[in-house]
Amino acid sequence: MPGEGDPHAEVMFIGEAPGYHEDRQGRPFVGPAGQFLNELLGRAGLRREQVYITNVVKCRPPGNRDPLPDEIAACAPYLDEQIAVIRPSVIVTLGRYSMARWFPNEKISRIHGKPRRFGDVVVVPMYHPAAALHQPALKELVEKDFDALREIIAQARAEAARTVEAQQSEEKAQQMRLF
Ligand code: URA
Repeated sequence: MPGEGDPHAEVMFIGEAPGYHEDRQGRPFVGPAGQFLNELLGRAGLRREQVYITNVVKCRPPGNRDPLPDEIAACAPYLDEQIAVIRPSVIVTLGRYSMARWFPNEKISRIHGKPRRFGDVVVVPMYHPAAALHQPALKELVEKDFDALREIIAQARAEAARTVEAQQSEEKAQQMRLF
């Protein structure tokens, strides 16, 4: 199950692996965790059609067990390619497996909701919506983090626009030097 959404999305969400419903439908986040994710997207001012949603692992681990290191490694080239093609300004990691790709030694309880820039992309680690569904105390935290995501996206957008502007004025300066 590759993922779905706008191929030009500004924001990409990366979960763990397809569950039962996702495996049946061939679409990411369509079960109960997906329902909650849809709500959370609304809090961040996003519609599902305008983002891209995928997972670290592309096949459903049997019995919903945690993905194994060799499964994560086997799927990594697909995720790399998705990120390279979509080139989002913001990546939101959902849960610890996608978080580990950018923050290998961090704890979600310490860094959730805090953006960090990696080159051209801002990565925001979030609790997994399914974890929040099962732990009411987390639900409020995740909701607050998604409320704050709106501003993080606005800042990343402004930064991306400044970068494009700087590139354009550098190109212009180069052209002028040719005369
Ligand atoms: N949980 C995930 O991590 N991914 C999905 O696609 C669905 C549930």
